[in-house]
Amino acid sequence: MTDFDLKYEEYAKKFEKTLDGFCEKLDCKPQLLADSLKYSLKLGGKRIRPVLMLATADMLGVEEERVMPFALALELVHTYSLIHDDLPEMDNDDFRRGKPSNHKVFGVGNAVLAGDGLLNTAYSILFGECFNGGEYVSAAKYICDCAGIYGMIAGQSADLAHENDKEINEDILDFIYENKTAKLIMAAVVTPTILCGGKYYSELKAFGKELGFLFQITDDILDVEGSFENLGKSTGKDLREGKYTGVGLYGLDKCKIKADLICENCVKLMEGISADTSFMKKIAFFVRQRVG
Ligand code: IPE
Ligand code: IPE
Ligand code: MG
Ligand code: MG
Ligand code: MG
Repeated sequence: MTDFDLKYEEYAKKFEKTLDGFCEKLDCKPQLLADSLKYSLKLGGKRIRPVLMLATADMLGVEEERVMPFALALELVHTYSLIHDDLPEMDNDDFRRGKPSNHKVFGVGNAVLAGDGLLNTAYSILFGECFNGGEYVSAAKYICDCAGIYGMIAGQSADLAHENDKEINEDILDFIYENKTAKLIMAAVVTPTILCGGKYYSELKAFGKELGFLFQITDDILDVEGSFENLGKSTGKDLREGKYTGVGLYGLDKCKIKADLICENCVKLMEGISADTSFMKKIAFFVRQRVG
């Protein structure tokens, strides 16, 4: 294991402890509701958004306790987005994180409610943080905006609207990438800077956007080249659903070259920061080289 792997695992474990505490306390009724929330939250997943948030906080000297509730809220929003993304009327995916999708276990109606429940609970956590002061209000609002109709929802809506388009253009693909994926990744790296008065705000925002693009372009590549064993989700589904993807626009080879360039941009952006950015640079390579 490299130093990077160890550090990633350390952040992920800290986050998992918080998530476990959250799941243990969940006592909503009926039991099926609690079970469906816990099912998707505890299936696993890379936890890259919480890891990014904790790493950025570390880099900026923001205490972990201050960002952890925001990391939890963000992972709840992300998990809800996956539950809804898999629904039959969206991407119609039967597997997620190596197990049957939420709606395959609990039914479509309950999966819609599980997603709604996670989003509402995320808001409740964010509101709870707002009592701590103005910068907490700004951070909470940033996450809400990234998740909402000028963020992830807009990207998911465009993703659906452009299914089966005959032609693909870069402007639309960029809109989809920026909103459906990059916005939640931006939220992860921007939240800690908002909590400490905006240090390196523009650099981190730009980094989050590039990393989000890199994340989605690799997701598109892996849909073609990856395996179920590594990804925990079916492959070949973008072509089947007529999705607007990087592979569709550039072709597989150019897509990889583009991904390398975006990865370089991520590294360059971190070079503009005079703090220890080694983990942040390495996470860009991690995203570029990931197989799962
Ligand atoms: C999947 O996100 C959805 C995309 C934005 C491509 P992740 O690949 O982060 O999913 P998990 O959380 O690791 O399962
Ligand atoms: C999903 O993008 C993005 C969100 C859930 C917001 P994809 O539809 O490409 O993600 P996967 O491939 O199903 O994980
Ligand atoms: Mg989708
Ligand atoms: Mg999908
Ligand atoms: Mg995908």
